[in-house]
Amino acid sequence: MEPAALLLAACLCCLLLAAAQRHRLRHRHPQGRLPPGPAPLPLLGNLLQLSTRRPLQALMQLREKYGPVFTVHLGPRRVVVLCGHEAVREALVDHAEEFSGRGALAIIDRNFNGFGVALANGERWKQLRRFSLTVLRNFGMGKRSIEARIREEAQFLLQALRDTREQPFDPTYFLSRTVSNVISAVVFGSRFDYADGTFLELLRLVNQSFVELSTPWAQLYDMFSGVLRYLPGRHNRLYRLIEELKGFVAARVAANRASLDPAAPRDFIDCFLIQGDKESQNPASEFNSTNLVLTALNLFFAGTETVSSTLRFGFLFLMKHPQVEEKVHEEIERVIGRHRAPASEDRVNMPYTEAVIHEIQRLTDIVPLGMPHAVTRDTLFRGYLLPKGTDVFPVLGSVLRDPAYFSRPEEFDPGRFLDADGRFKRNDAFVPFSLGKRICLGEALARMELFLYFTTVLQSFSLRPRVPPAQLDVSPRLSGFGNVPPRYELSLVPR
Ligand code: HEM
Ligand SMILES: *[C@@H]1O[C@H](CO)[C@@H](O)[C@H](O)[C@H]1NC(C)=O
Ligand SMILES: *[C@@H]1O[C@H](CO)[C@@H](O)[C@H](O)[C@H]1NC(C)=O
Repeated sequence: MEPAALLLAACLCCLLLAAAQRHRLRHRHPQGRLPPGPAPLPLLGNLLQLSTRRPLQALMQLREKYGPVFTVHLGPRRVVVLCGHEAVREALVDHAEEFSGRGALAIIDRNFNGFGVALANGERWKQLRRFSLTVLRNFGMGKRSIEARIREEAQFLLQALRDTREQPFDPTYFLSRTVSNVISAVVFGSRFDYADGTFLELLRLVNQSFVELSTPWAQLYDMFSGVLRYLPGRHNRLYRLIEELKGFVAARVAANRASLDPAAPRDFIDCFLIQGDKESQNPASEFNSTNLVLTALNLFFAGTETVSSTLRFGFLFLMKHPQVEEKVHEEIERVIGRHRAPASEDRVNMPYTEAVIHEIQRLTDIVPLGMPHAVTRDTLFRGYLLPKGTDVFPVLGSVLRDPAYFSRPEEFDPGRFLDADGRFKRNDAFVPFSLGKRICLGEALARMELFLYFTTVLQSFSLRPRVPPAQLDVSPRLSGFGNVPPRYELSLVPR
């Protein structure tokens, strides 16, 4: 626990008292029988047991003591934590309906207020989720049409990479521009030029938001939002970043509205506007501008940072393990050759590459604590009674490193996803996209992108780190809501 944070928390005691009292009244429930956990201090909860710099590790230590299902108090906020594959699957799959609620994510709830597919609940969430999935599929998610888009975009990336002429560079923006253009084409109807100033500004906002989401400040805010929201401090940066992003999306919505042709929807925004017009007689319709702007922002944000951060971590893992990179090159050479671009149907013939991508996603662990869930009604779970509305963290990082499913879980070993004959072997605890009714809405798109980008880059280039592989540090720069990859440079040598 950082001294500064502690001091701050102590100073806030009086204010917290009021907040905690309100919280208790709201959440009191006579029948609640919650899992065991460390005794909370008044107001501070279990702040002293929880590092805000490495929240995953702190929770893992509590798991040692209390078992896979326990209760912690994040300040005045009570959360049930699920660790390991069995507990997470039992909740999100076997009790899918009960655990399908979205819990509080205080640091961004200020911007979203329960609107937009990713943070909505109840009937609103059901409608937005069904609609978003349908539109993404209509625009080709998981199908050939989106594949063509990704392949085209991957060629733009290759051109930009060739222009680095074997000089070292930071891959961040190369990867986020290209990945973002895939989801931009779906949400906004067109890709951006790589030099477009607005686009670069947008990506800077997304990049910074992901960083801010993962700082110790954000973790602290999640605990003490009742008070911190009224105070100046770094947590306000994220609020402003997201408001700027909202402004950008709102301007696109206005432009779409002005040129809308109901017979020829160009993108997600058009489809949403058309649906809203259909329901214009219904005052309770969820298809209004609030949900449109925030759902489009959810898709754009989730579709940009997750995939590009995974690629950035991935290239780092490959440079750290050159023998693995070499085997991927060999498989590409053998299955695809040099004269045509990779296609998603190559995937079934490339078990080694598939295994490497799985291992990269497993260790990248992009959302280590999972997105917060909440139970939608009083829920009996393993003999405990979770009152309706209880926040639940399905700790995905603990599943992706569950030693019962992955031996020596900290090691980068693609071989764990292969059988004795070199065929791809799935593993039930591979859950980077989560499980159950809230499972990542973009999984099919993300998987296709990861395969096509990795193979396209590695078909044309070998990766060269700036320091010897043994000295490469692959630990995240920040680990909080997300795992943020470390900064690094590499150079690319044409093959
Ligand atoms: C490597 C890539 C990706 C990873 C690892 C990933 C992972 C996740 C995870 C862990 C969740 C939370 C699930 C839960 O609440 O239990 C999630 C939700 C979500 N993801 Fe992804 N994601 C990725 C890419 C994408 C892409 C490309 C899109 C865009 C289409 C997307 C859109 C969403 C949305 C909209 C949600 C919220 C779903 C809901 O609340 O119902 N994701 N993702
Ligand atoms: C974006 O993220 C990368 C890596 O985390 C970092 O090097 C870069 O400075 C960030 N850009 C901005 C504008 O924050
Ligand atoms: C959109 O609909 C919701 C639910 O009916 C409502 O709470 C919200 O204020 C509406 N937003 C606008 C801009 O009308």
